[in-house]
Amino acid sequence: KRPAGAPDKALARPVTKVGVIGAGLMASQFALLFVRRLKVPVIITDLDQARVDKGVEYIHNEIDTLLGKKRISPDEANRLKALVTGTTDKAEFADCDWVIEAVFEELEVKQQVFADVEKYISETAVLATNTSSLSVEQIGAKLDHPERLVGFHFFNPVAVMPLVEVVKAPSTDVATLSTAMVTAAGLYKNAVITTDTPGFVVNRILAKVLGEAMHAVDTGTPFEVVEESTKPFGLPMTPFQLLELVGLKVGAHVLDTHHAAFPDRFFESQNLHKLAELGHIFERDSKGKVKGIDKKARDIV
Ligand code: 3HC
Repeated sequence: KRPAGAPDKALARPVTKVGVIGAGLMASQFALLFVRRLKVPVIITDLDQARVDKGVEYIHNEIDTLLGKKRISPDEANRLKALVTGTTDKAEFADCDWVIEAVFEELEVKQQVFADVEKYISETAVLATNTSSLSVEQIGAKLDHPERLVGFHFFNPVAVMPLVEVVKAPSTDVATLSTAMVTAAGLYKNAVITTDTPGFVVNRILAKVLGEAMHAVDTGTPFEVVEESTKPFGLPMTPFQLLELVGLKVGAHVLDTHHAAFPDRFFESQNLHKLAELGHIFERDSKGKVKGIDKKARDIV
């Protein structure tokens, strides 16, 4: 017998049009995935037309890359491109049945974004947040229908990382959870259902590793020593490379959220905030290959 509250495929709602709020790198990456895997129209919005255009251009370029690698045919590339549109008018989200956001990791911003979009969408549309460590329950606090909100957390690079964390807030209803699980499967991702706790599962563990690595540097250990010492773990990237991949601002935010929730267990790092302002840790060659620690980054710590 299905346990109470467990997802049920029969309750999942069809996803026929996807709305993406935010046209930054993360949002653009998963917008492409929705188009490519679900083959449904995807509409992207952001604060202004320039950001929207940049997001659409990123997706078109990635479709061209897939074409160049012969993963898709020229016809399919054209079909996929035609499915992607951008707008600054949320009224165009009216017929979306799945709306997902990846805007700035600020609780009030996410609350406002969802409260806004809820005015335009149908009662049955599902809302999903790609938050990396904020409370899904709190993000939905200003919704008329918080039961339709679920966490849907992708990992970077979205096209490659096989996991999605589906975050079930106490308010998330079974139809929403079921839609999220079926949607994740449609995107060819492995979905796990997590509780609505800071960092869910992945970032809780990652914040420990990245936080300890950063703390070692903050307390006088050279970057290179931390890099060299973590190699035996066999991870595909060192902690500092991973911090650059997810974005130093996102990384600093994740550490701050964990420190605020569990001050005795997680470090925050002012140096990481300063590195985020600089924008990078490594010096790279023209192809993006790491040459070493950037001198300005070294001077910061
Ligand atoms: N964006 C998009 N695609 C990328 C990419 C990027 N930044 N980097 C690599 N790829 C793609 C490549 O195009 C290639 O695709 P293809 O097979 O279609 O040609 C594929 O990934 C493999 O790339 P490479 O062979 O060039 O490189 P590697 O074998 O070294 O793998 C990697 C690169 C997949 C990024 C690997 O280093 C890795 O797995 N790193 C760890 C990533 C990770 O842990 N991510 C989770 C971060 S946590 C997070 O996102 C949560 C957030 O909330 C903080």
